[in-house]
Amino acid sequence: MNPAGRSNNQRLRGGMVGMGMIFDETYRPFFENAFRDGLYDRRFGVCEVELAAVASRTGSRAEAYRESSLGKVGDFQSFVEPNSIGQLLDVDVDFVCIATPDDRHFAAAKAALEAGKHVLIEKPSVLSLAELDELERIARDKNVLAKIVYHKLFDPDHKKLRTLVHDGVLNHVNSGYCTLLEPKLISGSQFSEWITGRNPGTYVAVHYIKLIDFTFGGRLKRVTCSGQRGIVGPSDGPTWDSTQLRMVYEYDDGREAAFDIHTSWVTPDNFPGYVEQEVQFRFDNGVWNGHSRKRGVECTVEGKTPFELKNSMNNHYNGTFVEPYGERTQRGYGIEVLERFVREVGFVQLGGSEATHADRLAQMRTYHYNELSGDRQVVAAVEAMEAILAEHVAGNPECIVKVNDEAGGLALYKPGVSEPEVLYSPEV
Ligand SMILES: NC(=O)c1ccc[n+]([C@@H]2O[C@H](COP(=O)([O-])OP(=O)(O)OC[C@H]3O[C@@H](n4cnc5c(N)ncnc54)[C@H](O)[C@@H]3O)[C@@H](O)[C@H]2O)c1
Repeated sequence: MNPAGRSNNQRLRGGMVGMGMIFDETYRPFFENAFRDGLYDRRFGVCEVELAAVASRTGSRAEAYRESSLGKVGDFQSFVEPNSIGQLLDVDVDFVCIATPDDRHFAAAKAALEAGKHVLIEKPSVLSLAELDELERIARDKNVLAKIVYHKLFDPDHKKLRTLVHDGVLNHVNSGYCTLLEPKLISGSQFSEWITGRNPGTYVAVHYIKLIDFTFGGRLKRVTCSGQRGIVGPSDGPTWDSTQLRMVYEYDDGREAAFDIHTSWVTPDNFPGYVEQEVQFRFDNGVWNGHSRKRGVECTVEGKTPFELKNSMNNHYNGTFVEPYGERTQRGYGIEVLERFVREVGFVQLGGSEATHADRLAQMRTYHYNELSGDRQVVAAVEAMEAILAEHVAGNPECIVKVNDEAGGLALYKPGVSEPEVLYSPEV
């Protein structure tokens, strides 16, 4: 029985792996909205969407959520380590969302795909092309969807940018920069359990790697990366405070474009916004400037800003509102992107007869924006960046990774050494 007191036999049951910050920001409101309203799609009608089971390391946030969510979601089972995912997969779920730390996505996604579940993975999908190949293969064998969340592609400003490029209004990108700066509390407390050996590039630059790759197309040619240490960890250790990634792409006409992506997770906590996000892209015939924090609102509240409440807020991502008709809602592109995935699962599972299941699956796999197969160059950039930073830690800064080089798909060149180390042999 749903909250409206009606029973509906169309239902999709979801499993959640990881109950951290991103669960609270986007998955929680998605599941609560879906519990309240159901999911309607003309292709399959009204469908109930349940959060059936969750897996996490200790279960403490899951229990806190169980208490705070009474009446907002149905009852769910909670499993903890060891083998929290194995236990979750014994529950009858249709899809599994994976929001563990990025170096644990692969194991969880592999287990869920092998169990025949549709899978949605938080960005960055996985950290190497070998892992991506394996997940893709399993998803095909098991006839399920394997998709990734890149919510910035749903940001209306980025959709407009892509629309202008797609429609040929903005012609041929030549260069660009993006920055995303996270507050210190992210590296200092939020991620303290898993921060050692990690970097803000993989964690956040990946949003912009995807935006550039998806919006402008082209072939990734070269990757370089520098970074700084000494705040989150020792200045000679493997944990990075900030990174500067450069990617060079080549387009069909043989011309190149370079993109710099600067990220950090040590910005002071009294910064006026939650994160600083800015982009600039230069074209043959134009310039696009975007500032996702300064979209027009600045608000000061005595005793609250900039800590409890930020001066500049993003009301488009997962904003909480009292609607003009009185209801409280939480909505935005961070939630829309999850709903879109569940619609894709719904279409495959409920959108027609068993005889046409394979056609529906094939149709949902054509979406380059969230398919694993559409993430190859993004994962290549991430794998290259991780390898370059690891070499830097080992005493070899300034390495470069060439993509689809004569030596292999991903070839890492160290300064002064002519033979590259091949990170990935097949073509990217
Ligand atoms: N789309 C975005 O903008 C966005 C924002 C934040 C985080 N993320 C992504 O979401 C993922 C999680 O980030 P977060 O901020 O929620 O992290 P977090 O540290 O707040 O939470 C991580 C969660 O994973 C669980 N976990 C850890 N190891 C596990 C294991 N082996 N098995 C089961 N559960 C395990 C922890 O218990 C915790 O609940 C990361 O991949 C991150 O890149 C995306």
